[in-house]
Amino acid sequence: MDTTTAKSKVSEILDTMDYGPSPESPEQAKAWLAKRGSTFGLFINGKQVEGAAHFDSLNPATGERLAKIAQATPAQLQQAVDAATAALPAWAALGGHVRARHLYALARALQRHRRLFAVLETMDNGKTIRETRDIDIPLAVRHFYHHAGWAQILEAEFPRHRPVGVVGQIVPWNFPLLMLAWKIAPALACGNTVVFKPAEQTSLTTLLFAEICAEVGLPPGVVNVVTGDGAVGQAIVGHEGIAKIAFTGSTEVGRAIRKATAGSGKKLSLELGGKSPFIVFADADLDAAVEGLVDSIWFNQGQVCCAGSRLLVHEGTAARIVSKLKARMATIRIGDPLDKSIDMGSLIDRTQHARVSGFVDRARAEGAEIWQACATELPGGDSGNTCFYPPTLVTGVDTAFEIVQQEVFGPVLTVQTFRTPNEAIELANNTTYGLAANVWSESIGLALEVAPRLKAGVVWVNTANQFDASCGFGGYRESGFGREGGREGLREYLAGPEPRAREPAPPEATHRREVSSGDGGDGADGAIDRTAKLYIGGKQVRPDSGYSRAVYDGERLIGVVPDGNRKDIRNAVEAARAASAWARQSAHGRAQVLYYLAENLQAQRERFEACLLEGGGASADAARQEVDAAIQRLFSYAAWADKYEGTVHQPPMHGVVLAMNEPIGVIAIVAPDARPLLGLVSLVAPAIAMGNSVVAIPSNALPTIVAELYQLLDTSDVPAGVVNLVTGPVDALADVLAAHADVEAMWWHCTPQRAKRVESLSASNLKRMWTKRPGEEEGKEFLEQAVQVKNIWVPYGV
Ligand code: NAI
Repeated sequence: MDTTTAKSKVSEILDTMDYGPSPESPEQAKAWLAKRGSTFGLFINGKQVEGAAHFDSLNPATGERLAKIAQATPAQLQQAVDAATAALPAWAALGGHVRARHLYALARALQRHRRLFAVLETMDNGKTIRETRDIDIPLAVRHFYHHAGWAQILEAEFPRHRPVGVVGQIVPWNFPLLMLAWKIAPALACGNTVVFKPAEQTSLTTLLFAEICAEVGLPPGVVNVVTGDGAVGQAIVGHEGIAKIAFTGSTEVGRAIRKATAGSGKKLSLELGGKSPFIVFADADLDAAVEGLVDSIWFNQGQVCCAGSRLLVHEGTAARIVSKLKARMATIRIGDPLDKSIDMGSLIDRTQHARVSGFVDRARAEGAEIWQACATELPGGDSGNTCFYPPTLVTGVDTAFEIVQQEVFGPVLTVQTFRTPNEAIELANNTTYGLAANVWSESIGLALEVAPRLKAGVVWVNTANQFDASCGFGGYRESGFGREGGREGLREYLAGPEPRAREPAPPEATHRREVSSGDGGDGADGAIDRTAKLYIGGKQVRPDSGYSRAVYDGERLIGVVPDGNRKDIRNAVEAARAASAWARQSAHGRAQVLYYLAENLQAQRERFEACLLEGGGASADAARQEVDAAIQRLFSYAAWADKYEGTVHQPPMHGVVLAMNEPIGVIAIVAPDARPLLGLVSLVAPAIAMGNSVVAIPSNALPTIVAELYQLLDTSDVPAGVVNLVTGPVDALADVLAAHADVEAMWWHCTPQRAKRVESLSASNLKRMWTKRPGEEEGKEFLEQAVQVKNIWVPYGV
């Protein structure tokens, strides 16, 4: 046979080949359900507890009722919290090694029952068996193994830390068991106990996991499962016995949880929605990029928080990639999720179906072109009663379209074009979210130049939707805060560190000032010959209000400071944003500036000591000690500036993950009242050492320190806008900062009442709030608060 005849024979055979059905049997899973009468209660204190009322759990692919799930009552939630509280001391005291053995046993048990978990998950969720078998379950198992390791080395790696306490964990329906593993494994490794709530649509694998906890002899009360809808979630969030909330779900509910926990002192991590860009440059391997898109937006029917739902492609490449995509979409097989030859299963329910089709219909009405295709007939055809939705491509859109801005959470990809890398970055960042981003280019230079400029917690270079227990996952901006996985994920479940037993006590607080509001005027007292100004954008400026306030120590006037207002804060935030070049300054460069600040503080110390003494509150000794401590602190953070670095992870894939510590952006700081100089320096120094810019409200006790500070800043090469100082009514200014959309984090050690207010205001843009610990100490915790970790997945050794 000559070559041409052989080739045509092959293509003839290929043309006639088709996928035969390859169904996975549901029998074992059905038997598991039947054995329990298809009715489930809760799992509290190591035992099954009967439910009072139940709701149906459906198989979204068939509409069949799988089971009746209990709606936990408030009394049952209380029982679960009581059990977790009772189990906490012994579980924490077990030590890392014994906890590691428990986590290891859970991993082994999950592995033993992996087929049952995979089939049950597919039946409950509608996702394909290929994905549950090859992705969800193996990743969940890996999470328990990895965290067994963390438990073993916890005391060595996190000395003087302790568990947070009883943790409330709430997850959505898109990756039920995987999200459980992401939440429960680190919580247990760190010695916490758990009250866990699955999504109401998908409780079954959680209930199977609960049985496994009992099977492996996990101490009763360490893991408790309460099932039910959002009302149960709300009750968990509001429960006083719970010390931390870990939530994954919609941004809307995340915002509500931020408000509900405001002022409660609860630790909070939020993993919310996304609208992640998928950037394809002209030099990308287009066939690989198309496969990346399949994994990115059609994986799990697009119901993925980090789905690459916005294709941004170079203008000259758009036509080619769209035609390749259409051809590829036409080969995607939708159907019975239990069939191993099926690529896409069903959406979670009819509500989600209506939501997705609503987005697409509105986009069409707005003028977008919609293209839908797949290789198989949609199950149920046009009946309109199923939850299946085809892969969808939306072209002819721009950034103003709803479908480009909002999270669809379905198999829907929009396409936009760009001409230059800068334009690509601008489009990519043009969203309130910041969960993930994909970059495709054969030029390593281009890809790694773009990655740091993308506002996203995860960046995949020439790959998509990769996850691993060793690598942190979580968002920037309104995609939430906190990380899951990796070292940074553990910090979410640890309190501390406790101060070292023999750490020298800081000097006594000695300043007691009274600030009276009103028109102090310039030089209201002969003894005071200087009126401080605000310090914004590297300049001394008069307050917008035109008012100043006199600062008294008892009867004695010690200075006059400007009364900053909302407009001054706005200007300061604008100046801080404009100073973003500071973030790109080398760490060495930032260290030099901090050393220079320390050097100049040493040179100007007499002025500072005099200021601290001026009101008579500080003794000469205390003033001297305070200046000394502030100099030391500047030295410390200068030292850390180029040492608090990222790491390289080596997950079990052909690649490496660069976990980069990136600055958060603009941080608002309210200095503590005691030790006005040291308190302010202790907060500003770590923030700027990590590349943030700062809007600070100096101590209410001695706001006149501001005049000394800006002279120090002026002489120390701190670029304009990196540090901005606004004096005035602290509470009112703090409110403005907490609500400001361009402030990304806020640090303030304040009363629970004040924390409630500012944390609640912060929900507007979900800024990171640190309202408990910040003070005058020093330590790594300050650096952790000053950065967000970006995980960049890069092919390596492939
Ligand atoms: P959701 O955010 O309402 O539900 C997630 C979890 O939170 C569930 O366990 C739910 O019972 C619980 N919950 C609901 N309201 C609560 C409250 N007030 N307090 C505490 N817990 C509460 O998400 P839902 O309704 O299932 O999906 C709606 C949309 O949210 C989706 O279309 C999608 O756009 C987005 N979503 C995003 C997810 C992500 O991973 N980023 C996951 C799930 C949904």
